[in-house]
Amino acid sequence: MNETEIKKDFPIFKAQSRDGAPFTFLDSAATSQMPQVVIDSMLEFYSTYKANVHSGIYSIGVRAVEAYEGARRKVAMFLGAHSNEVIFTSGTTASLNMLARMLEVRISAGDEIMVSAMEHHSNFIPWQELAKRTGAVFTVLPLEKDGTLSAGTIRAMAGPRTKIIAVTHVSHATGSVNDVREISSIARGVGAFFVLDAAQSAPHMPIDVQKIDCDFLAFSGQKMLGPTGIGILYGKEKHLREIAPAVFGGGMIREVRTDSSTWADMPQKFEAGTPHVAGAIGLGAAISYIEVIGRAELMAHERNLADMARCALTNMPGIHVYGPHNEHETAGIVSFTVEGMHAHDVAEILSRENIAVRAGHHCALPLMNHFGISGTIRASFYLYNTEKDVERLLTGVKKAQGIFHA
Ligand SMILES: Cc1ncc(COP(=O)(O)O)c(C=O)c1O
Repeated sequence: MNETEIKKDFPIFKAQSRDGAPFTFLDSAATSQMPQVVIDSMLEFYSTYKANVHSGIYSIGVRAVEAYEGARRKVAMFLGAHSNEVIFTSGTTASLNMLARMLEVRISAGDEIMVSAMEHHSNFIPWQELAKRTGAVFTVLPLEKDGTLSAGTIRAMAGPRTKIIAVTHVSHATGSVNDVREISSIARGVGAFFVLDAAQSAPHMPIDVQKIDCDFLAFSGQKMLGPTGIGILYGKEKHLREIAPAVFGGGMIREVRTDSSTWADMPQKFEAGTPHVAGAIGLGAAISYIEVIGRAELMAHERNLADMARCALTNMPGIHVYGPHNEHETAGIVSFTVEGMHAHDVAEILSRENIAVRAGHHCALPLMNHFGISGTIRASFYLYNTEKDVERLLTGVKKAQGIFHA
């Protein structure tokens, strides 16, 4: 991988470099930047063949459908899934909320829904609310001291009443990677649905839904070089065939009568209304870009940078690094606090150096409570980051300490 060359594909780095200071973007876990080819793919749609994917008969309508369905095929290949198992949504949050609505009829009072304490609120609240609506027990799996989730804990706590186990693949707050194969086999053993939040893994590492054997999986295009407002809900064909949609309207019906209506085949029955066609096309272009490099290469590169940052920060006085410290248990995310400083103040000083990091609770309050803190500073790495970015981060943090403790 030549990350210096890769950086040139992303116009934002030139646009945001300031007075000779390069733009060091370390917030890809919140949203990634977009290469010119992705921007161009959407620009081409908007400027030369914008049409609704439901309008069809004229030439640009046909082309729009081909591009939209072509993007679906790319997502399917990217996941090792079939095209009809891929539903376009507006993002991970929308996917998980929609899924929680659709699974409602499968949940009865006294059943159990399990999530972990490391979840993003998007994979926490929809299940908590589902439990409230149905009278199910909402169980939050406790974490180890370092914020990791032990499969042993899940094995010990899951039982015959457990109907849904919803966990993240990679913690967006610490980078901790969960053993999803093991969790899936536990879910299988107790007959629960295994829902995987892949918002922080799909963009960065090879994912094969057959090997993982998850029932459902969600991720967002905006975190993987694509535009905002597009995401994916994957579901096993056997489930999607049986499950009723949660959103109704145009484009998803077979027949509509005054007494009742019937639905189109999957995945169309889950895509009511006009979808984000340009977004799907952009996501398809992003996948092509990522596939040229290879996700295993991406992961190795990001782990290397995160490990450099983690080791250096761990050895700096006054810094506390959260999450596992082993490179192989983590993805390209490093979370830390600086003694005596609020996370926002550190981020603000880094921003003056043209370094963008995320500071706060990261929509992971149960995890922050586990650590007994209000928030962290999070640096998240992607394919366009370089060792120079790590050096700039470390220098920036030292400078922040110097300013505060002067
Ligand atoms: C693990 C995880 N799940 C879900 C989400 C929500 O994603 P979105 O805001 O794209 O819906 C995020 C976003 O940060 C995330 O990191």
